[in-house]
Amino acid sequence: MYRTHTCGELRLSDVNKQVTLAGWVQRSRKMGGMTFIDLRDRYGLTQLVFNEEVDASLCEQANRLGREFVIQVKGTVNERFSKNPNLPTGEIEIIVSELNVLNAALTPPFTIEDNTDGGDDIRMKYRYLDLRRSAVRKNLELRHKMTIEVRKYLDEQGFIEVETPILVGSTPEGARDFVVPSRMNPGQFYALPQSPQTLKQLLMVSGFDRYFQIAKCFRDEDLRADRQPEFTQIDCEMSFVEQDDIINLFEGMAKYLFKTIRGVELTEPFLRMPWAEAMKYYGSDKPDLRFGMKFVELMDIMKGHGFSVFDSAAYIGGICAEGAAHYTRKQLDQLTDFVKRPQIGAKGMVYARIEADGNVKSSVDKFYTQEVLQQMKEAFGAKPGDLILILSGEDAMKTRKQLCELRLEMGNQLGLRDKNKFALLWVVDFPMFEWSDEEGRLMAMHHPFTHPKEEDIPLLDTDPAAVRADAYDMVCNGIEVGGGSIRIHDAKLQAKMFEILGFTPERAQEQFGFLMNAFKYGAPPHGGLAYGLDRWVSIFAGLDSIRDCIAFPKNNSGRDVMLDAPGTLDQKQLDELNLVIDLKQE
Ligand code: AMO
Repeated sequence: MYRTHTCGELRLSDVNKQVTLAGWVQRSRKMGGMTFIDLRDRYGLTQLVFNEEVDASLCEQANRLGREFVIQVKGTVNERFSKNPNLPTGEIEIIVSELNVLNAALTPPFTIEDNTDGGDDIRMKYRYLDLRRSAVRKNLELRHKMTIEVRKYLDEQGFIEVETPILVGSTPEGARDFVVPSRMNPGQFYALPQSPQTLKQLLMVSGFDRYFQIAKCFRDEDLRADRQPEFTQIDCEMSFVEQDDIINLFEGMAKYLFKTIRGVELTEPFLRMPWAEAMKYYGSDKPDLRFGMKFVELMDIMKGHGFSVFDSAAYIGGICAEGAAHYTRKQLDQLTDFVKRPQIGAKGMVYARIEADGNVKSSVDKFYTQEVLQQMKEAFGAKPGDLILILSGEDAMKTRKQLCELRLEMGNQLGLRDKNKFALLWVVDFPMFEWSDEEGRLMAMHHPFTHPKEEDIPLLDTDPAAVRADAYDMVCNGIEVGGGSIRIHDAKLQAKMFEILGFTPERAQEQFGFLMNAFKYGAPPHGGLAYGLDRWVSIFAGLDSIRDCIAFPKNNSGRDVMLDAPGTLDQKQLDELNLVIDLKQE
């Protein structure tokens, strides 16, 4: 037997037991004639003790052990003289009588401890070592627990887990596809699924009624803290349902997960905010509602007073940061620089402090009388000590998005985005389409299978841009944690949707004929949702990036630096696949 106990198991009640442990040498300390070693495995740390006076050769053997050596020890559990209250095994130690080195180890390139000295790149290159650190391992344990609870909840609700293929066909809508050349079908390619969307709809046509899958999805898009090129969805679909049925069931699931995973009881129904309201008051379809600072529009008050920047603006709006009037000129200049960064793109920022006597002192005082400034103050309901920050621009939507960035930054600076606080809501009534400058046409905001709101269907012919969809996203702390919709189940309406999206009937048939044909064989009304598993885990674990809840993630350039992937193929493979590489010179 390699071990009788794990390194996280022994307690005072085990004193005097003969035990065998196995694990990794985390750290070794020599104090006088004693050597102490922290032995680590997945379950914890246990202190080993070697006494030179009792067994000099064993102690010498212990002194030769390097960090991360894999060892097995036999010994007796002993009550520790100086106890460590921070460790579950901190009251005991093992007086070692036998030591076997199971495997030696090179000195690791960074310390395998909670606070490691390894930078991001090196930790990713040696991810198998990084995963030994309890801080990272805990995230994967949490992820495991979540998938167990998800399966339990959905099984209880009558959902059936069905696997859908990874090698599918390329679809032109949505993000870019990752593609796989087919050897047996020269010149043809599979695509990896961006989501199992159409397949789960076909399962509804097949009568499965309630489907789910913990599904790997692949999207070739630019990466951010909450985006990976391959990620996991909790993907669900239901038949004979309306929007409320889906929202209620998955709100129930969110509450169940909060309770079982975080011990947080959410009793109130989640807020449902129309998309138009989210954009108007927060400049975002995923508002972070852990804090206020709702936008206030100032066009009526601030326009037409000779300040040319505002006079030419299509939108003037601001936020009020409570108690932030103490911001210095330097801090305000830094905020101005922040909104002027190319990624944000504002031209400048106007600020106004509410002074102790209620007067308003602004950076544009010369254009405005105190009376107008007081009206502005009233519009915000601002009090002495508050700070008002205003942006304007010629494109209302763009300016709102800039103001959104400023609001989030102020939330950060004022410590209002507490990771232990959770603000959940549904954003509903999304527009069906959005205009793409790049494509020069309307694109589906969610996907082309989304059902328009019944009352907006007549607008499809007259004003498609005004059509709203039966689509909803769940947002937690400013992160989109899930999204879904009621689907079109009528072949004719689906064909019309493709027409509005600029498909010829032939192309729509070629790309999506399988779905439209299936709809002709008795498709039930259906709808569904997909939660982003990685995002949920990272919120529950309090992480800044989803990378740390993924065992082997990609870096920001989409590379796995440990596997050194993607890589080139050798000529034989290329020939088999009928591929010729012709790299375009930049
Ligand atoms: P959507 O594209 O909104 O919907 O994706 C659903 C959820 O998946 C998560 N997500 C991601 N997580 C990590 N990295 C990414 N690159 C990434 N992209 C998306 C988000 C998102 O809310 N088929 C539809 C769902 C449906 O309509 O049922 C879909 O894929 O949390």
